[in-house]
Amino acid sequence: MSELPPEIDTSRPHPARMYDYGIGGKNHFAADREVAEQIFAAWPSGRTSGRENRAFLGRAVRYLAGEAGIRQFLDIGTGLPTTDNVHEVAQAVAPSSRVVYVDNDPLVLAHARALLTSAPEGRTAYIQADIRDPQAILSDPATKDVLDFSQPIALMLVAILHYVPDEWNPTGILATLLDALPSGSYLVASHITGEHDPAVAAFERADREAGIPAQLRDSAEFARLAFRGLDLVPPGVVSVADWRPDTAGPRPSIAEVSTYGGVARKP
Ligand SMILES: C[S@@+](CC[C@H](N)C(=O)[O-])C[C@H]1O[C@@H](n2cnc3c(N)ncnc32)[C@H](O)[C@@H]1O
Repeated sequence: MSELPPEIDTSRPHPARMYDYGIGGKNHFAADREVAEQIFAAWPSGRTSGRENRAFLGRAVRYLAGEAGIRQFLDIGTGLPTTDNVHEVAQAVAPSSRVVYVDNDPLVLAHARALLTSAPEGRTAYIQADIRDPQAILSDPATKDVLDFSQPIALMLVAILHYVPDEWNPTGILATLLDALPSGSYLVASHITGEHDPAVAAFERADREAGIPAQLRDSAEFARLAFRGLDLVPPGVVSVADWRPDTAGPRPSIAEVSTYGGVARKP
C-alpha cells in the first residue's frame, strides 16, 4: 500500500503481520520480520506450524460448510487476507454462506476489501474489534445484520487464543461468545503449544519482549479453555496437521507443528 492510514504503526510488530510473513504473505514490515526471524531462528519449524495451521483452518471450514451444513461464521482473529479466506472456502461449498470477520489490527481493516468479495448469494462483513470485548463484537450492527443468532454459527478462534493470556480471563471471553450461539453451533480453535519442543518457548518469549501478549498452553489446558461443555468432533484435539487430513502423504510430526486444533459442536 502506498499510503497507510495514520493509525497503522509500522514501527511496532503485530501478530497479524508476523504471521503473514511466516506463511509467505506480502503485508509485513521490518519490525514484524525482525521478531518473526528471532522466533524462527530459535524455532525453525515455526513456519511449518503457520502453514499447517492455515491448512487446518481451510479443512475445518470445508467440513463445517459441507458435512455439518453450517452457513454462518464468526471469524475472530482473521489475519491479513490471503488465499482461502473463510468466505472463499465456505462459499465454494455453499455460496449462501455468511461471514463476519473480526481483527484488532488496523492493517487488516486497510486490506479488508479483499474479505468483502462475497458471492452474491452470501454476505461478508468486517469489524475492527478486540476479542477482549466480546460483547462489543456480538452487539456490533454488522454482526447483527449479517448473522442470524437463531441459526447455528461457527465461531472461529484459529491461532488467536495464544495471544489471550490468562490475566485477560479467556474462559470468560469464551463463555460470553458461546452463550450467544444457539445449540448446533460450532467452535473451531487452534493453539500453539510448548509441550513437544522446548524451542517453541521462543514464541512466547520474543512476543512478550516485543510487547505482544502471548501464552503457550498444553493440550489439556487448551482443551479445557476452548472445548469444555462442547462435543468434540472426531478426531478431537490433535495436531492441526492430523485433523482430518485431505492428502495421504507424510505429515509433519506434532513436535514440528506444535499447534493443537479441534472442532466441537455446542449441544
Ligand atoms: C496468527 S493470526 C491467525 C490468522 C487466522 N485466524 C489463521 O489462523 O490463519 C492471529 C490473528 O489474531 C489477531 N489478534 C491477536 N490478538 C487479538 C485481539 N486481542 N483481538 C482481536 N484480534 C487479535 C491478530 O491481529 C492476527 O490477525
